[in-house]
Amino acid sequence: MPRHLMNPLDFSVEELDRLFSLAANIEKEPERYAHICDGKKLATCFYEPSTRTRLSFEAAMLNLGGNVLGFSDAGSSSAAKGESVSDTIRVISCYADICAIRHPKEGAAYVAASKSSIPVINAGDGGHQHPTQTLTDLLTIKSLKGDLNNFTIGMCGDLKFGRTVHSLINALSRYSGIKFIFISPVELKVPDYITEMLKDKGITYEEVEKLEDVMPDLDILYMTRVQRERFFNEEDYVRLKNFYILTKEKMELAKPDMLVLHPLPRVNEISVEVDDDPRAVYFKQAQYGVYVRMALIMTLLGLAD
Ligand code: CP
Repeated sequence: MPRHLMNPLDFSVEELDRLFSLAANIEKEPERYAHICDGKKLATCFYEPSTRTRLSFEAAMLNLGGNVLGFSDAGSSSAAKGESVSDTIRVISCYADICAIRHPKEGAAYVAASKSSIPVINAGDGGHQHPTQTLTDLLTIKSLKGDLNNFTIGMCGDLKFGRTVHSLINALSRYSGIKFIFISPVELKVPDYITEMLKDKGITYEEVEKLEDVMPDLDILYMTRVQRERFFNEEDYVRLKNFYILTKEKMELAKPDMLVLHPLPRVNEISVEVDDDPRAVYFKQAQYGVYVRMALIMTLLGLAD
């Protein structure tokens, strides 16, 4: 049976450590890995828009010497004619060695994995999970802070629909000394099933509305976009879209070594003047996404050893 990645918890903490070590080696000596995937093919099946995830997967496979095929829009695939995800993945399994799939419906990647004879990677399913973004976030934190334990992490913005947030909370809840501060308007609070999980595990969290009040406490600030595509009505989106804007003035309240992460794309929630602050690492984070996806492709294809 092929091994899939649907949720960051599919990998144990020890497996993640090995993955991050491999990604660090790839960053140091990329030429050593330039032919590891010669003759292999990655299919990217994206039913929802993407820049980073799709292109970093494709860059990752090309960096490893492999090839890529796929579609970036459901409208240009036979989904537009009514083909199911199950049928599509059975066909893709005949053409490629590994597949990354993004879909607007929660659970679509699980359906694909259940019918696939090749490894399937969940590249984002609706408002549910985005495990490879989480691998990117964890590698960024580990590389720049040297550890994944003992942090106060603020998560700000759309915590209700934000799949990157849901995946990252799941993943960080396995490390020790983690405290979460959830910063959101009441309408975009983190779902109850997540806060229940944190209570069950005895993990400390706070929920606040004002970013300025907690800035001095944070080791990491994870900003997110209010996602127009997840709202049921435009009026709510317009009311909430500019609720948070991280500015230079707000950064003055933060610790000198606090990191600002953002899965991107950004709209208005981080002012461009913050980009020059050395604590703003969201573009570096996008680069780490290539190294970790290279390590992941090698691992799922059984080529990591
Ligand atoms: N972070 C992220 O998932 O970006 P894209 O939507 O551009 O892939």
